Amino acid sequence: MSVGLPRVGIVGVGTIAEALVTGMCAGGERRADFLLSPRNTEVAHRLAGRHRSIAIAADNQGVVDGSDIVFLAIRPQVARQVLSPLIFRAEQRIVSLVATFDVERLKPLVAPATTIARAVPLPPVADRLGALTLYPPLPEIAALLDGLGRLVLLDREADIDACLAVTALMGSYFGLLDSVSDWLSSRGLGDDRVRPYVGAIFNALGATAQARAADGFDRLAIEHSTPGGLNEQAWRELKSAGWTGLVRETLDLIHDRVRGQATLDDTLPSNRNQNGDRRG
Ligand SMILES: NC(=O)c1ccc[n+]([C@@H]2O[C@H](COP(=O)([O-])OP(=O)(O)OC[C@H]3O[C@@H](n4cnc5c(N)ncnc54)[C@H](OP(=O)(O)O)[C@@H]3O)[C@@H](O)[C@H]2O)c1
Repeated sequence: MSVGLPRVGIVGVGTIAEALVTGMCAGGERRADFLLSPRNTEVAHRLAGRHRSIAIAADNQGVVDGSDIVFLAIRPQVARQVLSPLIFRAEQRIVSLVATFDVERLKPLVAPATTIARAVPLPPVADRLGALTLYPPLPEIAALLDGLGRLVLLDREADIDACLAVTALMGSYFGLLDSVSDWLSSRGLGDDRVRPYVGAIFNALGATAQARAADGFDRLAIEHSTPGGLNEQAWRELKSAGWTGLVRETLDLIHDRVRGQATLDDTLPSNRNQNGDRRG
């Protein structure tokens, strides 16, 4: 352990915890001493084997006892069951990554600790890419997350919920690339060329979107659509098929779920009527 560095505990060592710790330790940087819960054993040992600033506790209570700042990175389904038996200290800072738990819901589970933040990192933080959000913008936590991508500091909890809804489109993004690749493969182009080609096109567009965000994406859509050209036609077809409306409706559904106003069951197509409203 190093004098002066925060002791950061992590309860729940899975996909996002691994990405986060990897990003914080990238390039050999040491911004904290980490204490991981032993589960998932494989991930915890992989991380501990990689960086000397990372240790594994005997159990979840050991993580809490040995940390100044505790990151909660378990799934929402087990959060109550995992956190309820743990004994926190009043001066501890809690950073929850649990998507569907707001601060009010977390309070009784981490009492007597009262300093509670929520953060939404995404897997690219491992490479210090992409964006992550933090609410409220506690300087000590912001310092830990700074540089792991574009850190967006939020003053209202409603804002982190809305940003969180947008992060639910990661799977859809790759699903779109997969559909595009499938179509291209069906024209006979070999897989060895299809996926690198599609990946490179969308990667460049993502870079343009990031670099020119201030211009507005509507303007980029117009600039990339020559009047009477192929891009203009494709965008018109997709819009008239209800593509943009569908994206908004999907985000509304996810947003409801993030805010605890709907469950996964409510949003399943089988539980919605013909108008798309929830049954019952
Ligand atoms: N993945 C993302 O991109 C992302 C982004 C932002 C926020 N989040 C949030 O971060 C949280 C974790 O997501 P994830 O994708 O990293 O899920 P995950 O890969 O399933 O990680 C959760 C980890 O918690 C462990 N766990 C289960 N029960 C436990 C217990 N009793 N004590 C200690 N650890 C326990 C699991 O171990 P086992 O593998 O042994 O079950 C698993 O390693 C979720 O609340 C999610 O909403 C995820």
